[in-house]
Amino acid sequence: MKKISLALTSLALALSAGTAVANCDSGERVVKFSHVTGGTTHPKVVAANNFADRVNKEMNGKMCIEVFPNSTLFGDSKELEALLLGDVQLLAPSLSKFGSYTEKFGVFDLPFVFKDMDHAIRFTNTPEGKDLLLEMDDYAGFVGLGYWMSGMKYFSANKPLLLPSDAEGMKFRVQTSDVAKQMISAMDASPQAMAFSEVYGALQTGVVDGQENTWSNTYTKKFYEVQDSITETNHQLLAYLFMTSSDFLASLSDEDRAQFLQIADDVTQEANLSVKAAEAANRANILKAGGKINTLTPEQRQEWVDTMKPVWTQFEKYIGKDLINAAAGA
Ligand code: LMR
Repeated sequence: MKKISLALTSLALALSAGTAVANCDSGERVVKFSHVTGGTTHPKVVAANNFADRVNKEMNGKMCIEVFPNSTLFGDSKELEALLLGDVQLLAPSLSKFGSYTEKFGVFDLPFVFKDMDHAIRFTNTPEGKDLLLEMDDYAGFVGLGYWMSGMKYFSANKPLLLPSDAEGMKFRVQTSDVAKQMISAMDASPQAMAFSEVYGALQTGVVDGQENTWSNTYTKKFYEVQDSITETNHQLLAYLFMTSSDFLASLSDEDRAQFLQIADDVTQEANLSVKAAEAANRANILKAGGKINTLTPEQRQEWVDTMKPVWTQFEKYIGKDLINAAAGA
């Protein structure tokens, strides 16, 4: 049984950026959960620790989950491959990081396709949204256990951005998403794909001028320290695929699999119920820590929409018009 709470373990890891303390009992199956976010208030950190705490308590003696936050086990570029190799069993990567496996997930990246997280959650509960959970099972062996919302995204930069034209000629860090790259190009700016763990340094040294992220990532990774301000563009969703591999699931007994999947489902529901409050708290934390936030007038916001929305048509043939309509209309 776990002697100390996973939350504390993860916090210690985050602070030391070291390796995980193995505190599972012998005889328990050790299951590794790797992710890239940090801090204590981040929705993914909280959900991953909740999942581990529940499994470790309810499946005590059978299974023991160790959580590795902050890219301490695997970073963005290696984690999916590590899952296929069996070096890790649980991940929760951003839906924007699956470009080499499926183009369909581009639907989640389309600018202004979701009004807010409630809209995105409605889409994930449609038949189309549910099908996407298992989109890569057949050919990659990736199994989606649930969607974890993270937040809507906002631009930050080394100067205030009120209109997309303010970003002309600037360099922005993006995730490895073709949709995000085109969206930045539509602003006459340059996208630079980069691992999450490298973003703070790249902003600090001027390798890039700006980035786009949620309040929780901007706060817990302290991006506000090395940026002039953040603009409340609300232009895109950040959500995660809480996932495992089909090999791992197949290796469990029917009874253990059913229990494991039930806990995954419960924790997913809980995570999505609390994510809005976490985002609001981290927005307030940024202000308290001295970060600046620019709000937009409806006219200014409309210019962002007009600049970015044409990207939808560029990706229609890859994502599928029906899927885009299902997302936009959910
Ligand atoms: C990013 O790379 O900006 C995010 O996907 C990180 C995360 O997992 O929230």
